Amino acid sequence: MALAWTEHLSVGNATIDSEHKSLIVMVNGIETMIKARDNFALPQAFEQLEHYLCAHFVDEENIARAVNFPFAKNKQEHDYVLKEFQNMKAELVAKDGIWSDGAAEHYSNFLSDWITDHVLKEDMLMKPALQNYPYDFKPDELNKQ
Ligand SMILES: [Fe+2]
Repeated sequence: MALAWTEHLSVGNATIDSEHKSLIVMVNGIETMIKARDNFALPQAFEQLEHYLCAHFVDEENIARAVNFPFAKNKQEHDYVLKEFQNMKAELVAKDGIWSDGAAEHYSNFLSDWITDHVLKEDMLMKPALQNYPYDFKPDELNKQ
């Protein structure tokens, strides 16, 4: 089922929320491709998502550091999430568009759960710290980009 960003996914920072919205759009796009077995578009969409995800993790780390949030646990989660994503990507690309409806459902759910867990279980831990700052707070590192 396609995910939609709603207020309950807000972690209290405009940059992070906006990046999560983009991630959700990308995940929804990939889910559609998985269901359509679009092995032509999938590899490029995976590359785009992975690239964006890495940039997002760097931004989160910079923001966490700027608001004095201890980020070690989130950093571990980022490494884990990235590895899981890369495994799934390799599995799907190797299947070259040949998978059952059940497998399509499984991979789609995996992606939705993965992004929802990232936001709700990990990034949400930063919310109390982020709420001490304006919603549009951006550390200098991000302003330079
Ligand atoms: Fe995030």
